[in-house]
Amino acid sequence: MILPYRNEIIQGDCLGLLKHIPDNSIDMTFADPPFNLKKGYKSYRDSLALQEYLDWCEQWISEMVRVTKPTGSIFLHNIPKWLTYYATFLNQIAVFKHWISWDAPTSPMGKTLQPNHYGILFYAKKAKELKFYEVRYPHKRDRKSSYLSKDYGGKKGGLHPFGSLVSDVWTDIHRVKHNKYRDEHPCQLPVHLLERLILMTTDENDTVLDPFSGTGTTAIAAKRLGRNYIGFELDPDYVQIAENKLAQESSNSKLGDYWVSFYLDKVVTLRDDDWQSLQEFFYLPTRPEEIDTVPITLKSIVQVPARLNGDNKMVIQRGGQNNCLQKNMLF
Ligand SMILES: C[S@@+](CC[C@H](N)C(=O)[O-])C[C@H]1O[C@@H](n2cnc3c(N)ncnc32)[C@H](O)[C@@H]1O
Repeated sequence: MILPYRNEIIQGDCLGLLKHIPDNSIDMTFADPPFNLKKGYKSYRDSLALQEYLDWCEQWISEMVRVTKPTGSIFLHNIPKWLTYYATFLNQIAVFKHWISWDAPTSPMGKTLQPNHYGILFYAKKAKELKFYEVRYPHKRDRKSSYLSKDYGGKKGGLHPFGSLVSDVWTDIHRVKHNKYRDEHPCQLPVHLLERLILMTTDENDTVLDPFSGTGTTAIAAKRLGRNYIGFELDPDYVQIAENKLAQESSNSKLGDYWVSFYLDKVVTLRDDDWQSLQEFFYLPTRPEEIDTVPITLKSIVQVPARLNGDNKMVIQRGGQNNCLQKNMLF
């Protein structure tokens, strides 16, 4: 099927644009809508009356479900307050899989507990047909000593050499904090957050749609991972920033033949199924007990070029017929 807007960021209202997307045609839909918190967007006033906001959300959520394939996934990122309404609505038209808690401090909202996570609702269009891959992330370690943060006691020997399977609580991905890495946008997401979701639920050449594209984080993640993207965004300046960034991206977030997610010079997400083939790219502990103190390290050279406006960008030096990283050792 030839999809309209494939590999484009289109300026306009997502409600109208979504109407052009055929039923059951998209592999993954992800939305990070305005949170109705009076954020200073350029073209959108982020302060609707409660019922008006919820009615509006129901319209684009219905469209997201309509366009998602039976094998596809629907992700909604927001503060817990709005996700409770979204879930009530979504439970009628899709199948709940997970509430992912993304540990990232948010703004205090009056006499409340300090909000410390965003939620990402994960729904399947059809539970039995859902495409899903287990993914792993590196073991958490103390920054100074490199010791494992968790005490695994006698079970250390049985730990996976790369890291644990990703659960529904994500503490290892930080918000884009420093201004020098941020676009002119009030709430840009980190690319490797989207890369994790994409690796979990799509394959190469699948299509990912984001109706609130902002400065293009989802599209960049999709492009780096060899997926197609469609982005909608109301503000022309944000569209321009996204297009500029996308023009400088390529589909090269790979080790050998396998798609992985990098942050700086580290692999932060890989598929469990790919580990057998990927392990040759890492120095692994020779004795099981070393896992306690020795972080996993890539063998091959990776270059981190000058930052673009936005999140980190990896360029990988390639060599050999099978597109492997150059095997120049780091040490
Ligand atoms: C929370 S931000 C998304 C940020 C994005 N995830 C990123 O990392 O850059 C929400 C975006 O939705 C856009 N927006 C608001 N209403 C819209 C609409 N009806 N159609 C398309 N985009 C809209 C805003 O301009 C804003 O950029």
